[in-house]
Amino acid sequence: MATLLLTNIGQLTTVDAKGSVLEDAAVLIEDGLVAWVGHMAQAPATAHEIDLGGRAVLPGWVDSHSHLIFGGDRAEEFVARMAGQTYAAGGIAVTTSATGQLSDTELAGIVAERRREALAMGTTWMETKTGYGLTLEEETRHSVLGKPLVDSLTFLGAHLVPAGWDAEAYTDLVTGPMLDAVAGNVDFVDVFCERGAFTEDQSRRVLEAAQRKGLATKVHGNQLGPGPGVKLAVEFGSHSVDHVNYLDEEDFKALADSWAGWDASARSGKPGTVATCLPACDLSTRQPLAPGRELLDAGVRIALASNCNPGTSYTSNMNFCVATAVLQMNLSLAEAIEAATYGGALALGVADQVGSIEVGKRADLHVLDAPVAAHLAYRPGMNLTHSVYRAGELVDR
Ligand code: NIG
Repeated sequence: MATLLLTNIGQLTTVDAKGSVLEDAAVLIEDGLVAWVGHMAQAPATAHEIDLGGRAVLPGWVDSHSHLIFGGDRAEEFVARMAGQTYAAGGIAVTTSATGQLSDTELAGIVAERRREALAMGTTWMETKTGYGLTLEEETRHSVLGKPLVDSLTFLGAHLVPAGWDAEAYTDLVTGPMLDAVAGNVDFVDVFCERGAFTEDQSRRVLEAAQRKGLATKVHGNQLGPGPGVKLAVEFGSHSVDHVNYLDEEDFKALADSWAGWDASARSGKPGTVATCLPACDLSTRQPLAPGRELLDAGVRIALASNCNPGTSYTSNMNFCVATAVLQMNLSLAEAIEAATYGGALALGVADQVGSIEVGKRADLHVLDAPVAAHLAYRPGMNLTHSVYRAGELVDR
């Protein structure tokens, strides 16, 4: 049995249901899983120990929303936006064209490098989406390439109606042959339910098709303006609705009601729809930040994710997202850390495996070059990741 004791942890943020934060702590890892958590003075004796020098430790980030499967970049579009142009989803077509020019080896290499980069910054579980293919062949190719490179994969054929297509005919393709082709490779089906992308009816068709296939769903909603995304996501029991920048009272109520069957203190019952906030995207598109504070106050579970993509959020740095949530969205540090770990795990349906440091869970740990986790927001922009353990293995960074 492979056993490792991580000891002399100055501050251990467990993200368990009680929000336990231990000082002078240790974590025992056996066969890649957490086997014991407690004060270092009581730690079981082991042959193999690593002294973490009083550093702070927290669960690895669970990044529940990214779009890593792409070629090229859109720096020009970004510069134009910073000069005053508003974001419109049309840029997706630019990336689709650049991505289509890459061979399988080139594209897989780029995605693997992006995943490695995120892991080096503490992201031990990462979701990514297709959606820069938009043809049967390309969406299938991206699902095959992407599957072994990430932890959760989402089909987003409904990202944009490609030029030359009638929206209904393209929705037929997405909900028929495309979904048939990718279904065996993906964990979720997502739809960009937004003005300029897919209407409420078209989005509904995508979600219904996913359910017929027995696949879980997500919705990109309420990003560029008020819309039906949140209500649809709740109606369909989606794991998450992502972006959530423009919410009305009914949206808040629908989301809060979806959590009525969840016992937060025991973390049991039926999870509702997670509202996933994407602060790096909000900054890069100069949208109002998602109302994370108000969502929490309304009783909604939230996740924080990077939304790494070339159009609206070209960063996979979850340390940055957490710092922004604290500094700009009025979350406490504990709330932001929970949203970026356990919240992401709920949004991906893997909260029984990852998202907190508890006995039986995968030993995914993020060691900070800081004595307390508060440094994440106190020293924003600094490279605070000291080391990362994924399934008990030290990640080669
Ligand atoms: O999540 N909202 C849709 N998709 C991406 C942006 C895609 C792009 O502009 O390339 C997002 O922001």
